[in-house]
Amino acid sequence: MTSNKSIIEIIFNTHHVVSEKVIMLRAIVKRYSAENLLENTESILNFFNKILVEHFKKEDELIKVIRRDIKLTDIESKIISEISEEHTIFLKDFSRLTEIAGNLKPELKEDFIEICNNVTDKLTIHAEKEDNVIYRIGKEQLNRQQLDEIEDAISKIA
Ligand SMILES: [Fe+2]
Ligand SMILES: [Fe+2]
Repeated sequence: MTSNKSIIEIIFNTHHVVSEKVIMLRAIVKRYSAENLLENTESILNFFNKILVEHFKKEDELIKVIRRDIKLTDIESKIISEISEEHTIFLKDFSRLTEIAGNLKPELKEDFIEICNNVTDKLTIHAEKEDNVIYRIGKEQLNRQQLDEIEDAISKIA
């Protein structure tokens, strides 16, 4: 494969854009009244279930190659395990939010707000870990062949 732009830069651009959006959403969750947030469940869920889920799949391909091929320090290894586990936990959070939004009983409204609040806090920390570990390693230590492998795997997603 012969792209001009590194696949890491492409995933990182999306990572940057979604991280900015999470920061905005986090501010909205903390500032808005419950009713305002609940009027926008569809766009919030669209962002989580489509954009973030796809982004996680791409990052998982990057993580797979880093774990297999790069000699990691104990701390890097630990953080990468956390990042990977967090992707799984976020998917469960998104499913729960989707379930609640599909049947928004009055007693569940507070749950929706609470989970959104919690998810956007966790996503902010998650993105910082990724900046410092998987993107740094991806940019500095992967060779052409490894990048091509990631690009190929990602082209099969979505
Ligand atoms: Fe990310
Ligand atoms: Fe991620």
